[in-house]
Order: sequence, then structure tokens, then C-alpha cells
Amino acid sequence: MGDGVSVGTRLHPIPLHVDRGISLARGEGCYLWDDQGRRYLDLMTNYGVNLLGHAHPHVNAAIDRQASLLTNAHQSFDTPARQEFLDTLAGFLPSSLSRMSFANSGAEAVEAAMKYTRVATGRTGIIATHRAYHGRTFGALSATSDAKYREPFMPMLEGTRHVPFDNLPAMAEAIDDSTAAVIIEPQFVLPKTCSWETWREEPLVVLAHRAIEERDPHRILATEPFIRYDRKQWGGRLAENYLQQAGIHPHDRYELDSLDAIAVLVDRKLGVSLVPDWAPPWHLDWRAPAIVWL
Ligand SMILES: Cc1ncc(COP(=O)(O)O)c(C=O)c1O
Repeated sequence: MGDGVSVGTRLHPIPLHVDRGISLARGEGCYLWDDQGRRYLDLMTNYGVNLLGHAHPHVNAAIDRQASLLTNAHQSFDTPARQEFLDTLAGFLPSSLSRMSFANSGAEAVEAAMKYTRVATGRTGIIATHRAYHGRTFGALSATSDAKYREPFMPMLEGTRHVPFDNLPAMAEAIDDSTAAVIIEPQFVLPKTCSWETWREEPLVVLAHRAIEERDPHRILATEPFIRYDRKQWGGRLAENYLQQAGIHPHDRYELDSLDAIAVLVDRKLGVSLVPDWAPPWHLDWRAPAIVWL
């Protein structure tokens, strides 16, 4: 162009996030493909936004249906689709919640919440907790704790303070007559989508014939002929690890991969064994040998 400005320069987003050098072209269910045809398992789902998977036919059909009817309408008009959404949402919420505010992003929702609390209480103070992330717009950023997000844009919104997470005395001390709201991002030791629950315990047990008078499991293992549970089996490796950690050097006689066979040999007084007390159908209760619990 005559004034020296060229058109057609390739635009790049401002680098707010790390550039992974991957261009994602499509998704299906829990998988993503890049523009080179490489497949990835999507363990991130864009922070749960794609929780229903990518390109699910039901979701696609619903988007298609609505897009071919009405793509957008100002909120001063009612639309059947919006009303259907609100009615469905209301079905999950306590009946005391009767108003809702639409937002396009987390930051926008936080921003709106901060404004509503100011109006509702006539106060301006917001208390947030350390390590919390609430978004990058100015109000939400004021509640966000990490200095790397805040410092380039100081000063933040007046009246916003941070206290340590999970410290009720600090929170109680911070709340005063100027406090409009407390905003908390729950912090999890495990990722939010995972939890750990013990379903059953399968302790190692010593199998020994009732005739053996010794009751100390370590002494039984160290002195009696020992029938190993095959160390190529997972249970055999568990037993082996235990023996090593306890510093027990048994007198090996056999090494077998069948729990039934081990039980029979113990019953014939041919040795003792160390095996996991697996859940049914391998449970040991019905077996003849005495079980000495570790
Ligand atoms: C607890 C919480 N609040 C707010 C936000 C900001 O959401 P958005 O990135 O959609 O603005 C996030 C984003 O990770 C968040 O985890």
C-alpha cells in the first residue's frame, strides 16, 4: 500500500500461555488429533469444558438443531431454548435460588458475583484465599492470589484481601463490617477429577499347619520349610518384597503359582507359605491350614 502499511501479516495470539507447538484439528470422544494426524488422549478437556467428549453425535445434533432455528437473541427477549435451559437448571438447584446470571467465562461469573455482592450488601470488601485462581479480568484478578498474574497490572481493586486457605481463625479475623463477600476456590490435594477410596484390604497372611505351635509369624517364616508363591505372579512379588523388607530369609522348599496347591502342601505339613489374602474367589477361609495374620 502507498503509505507503507502491508496487509496480510499473519496474526499470532498474545502469548498468555505456553506454546506447545501442536495444532489440534479435531476431536472424537476422549481423543484429539493434530493437523499431522497424531492422536492424543485428552486428559485435560480444557479444564472440564469438554467433559462430554468431543463431537458427540447427540451434542452435535442439539447444536445443529438450535443453530438452524435461532443462533442468538438479546436477553430482553425470551426464547424457548433459554427457558428450557433455565427450567432444567432449576431442577438441580435448591428452591431458595430463584435468580441467575448468564456469563461467558469463569472470570465474567466472578466479576458479576463481586458486583452483585456489593449491591446487595452496600459493602466493598472481598476476602479471597492464597493460591486461588479466579480469572484475569480486573475484579477477578484482584481476587486471584498469584503475584505473577497481578503484579504487571497493579494496583488491584481496593478492599480485596487474601488469607491462608483452610485457616478459619485467619478468615474470621479478616471478616469485618466492610466485608461484602468471601470467595473460595476449593483446593484439592488430588486433582479434582480423582479421589482415592479403599474398597477392600488384602493383607499378607502366613499359611501354617495347626500342628505348628509357634504363633509368631516372622519366626514361623524364618524357621519352617518355605513354600514360595511364584515370584512371577503379582502376589508372589508382594510376598517377596515383604520378606526382604522384614529381613527374613526363609528356607525355600518349593515355588508354586497355584494357591490351591500351596494350601494342599501346607495341609500335608510340607511347609509354610506367605500369600496375599485375596478377595473371593481366591479367599482362604475354607482352606484347611491355620492362618496366622501378620
Ligand atoms: C475457580 C476458577 N474461577 C475462575 C476461573 C476463570 O475462568 P475463565 O478462564 O473461564 O475466565 C477459573 C479458571 O481456571 C477457575 O478455575
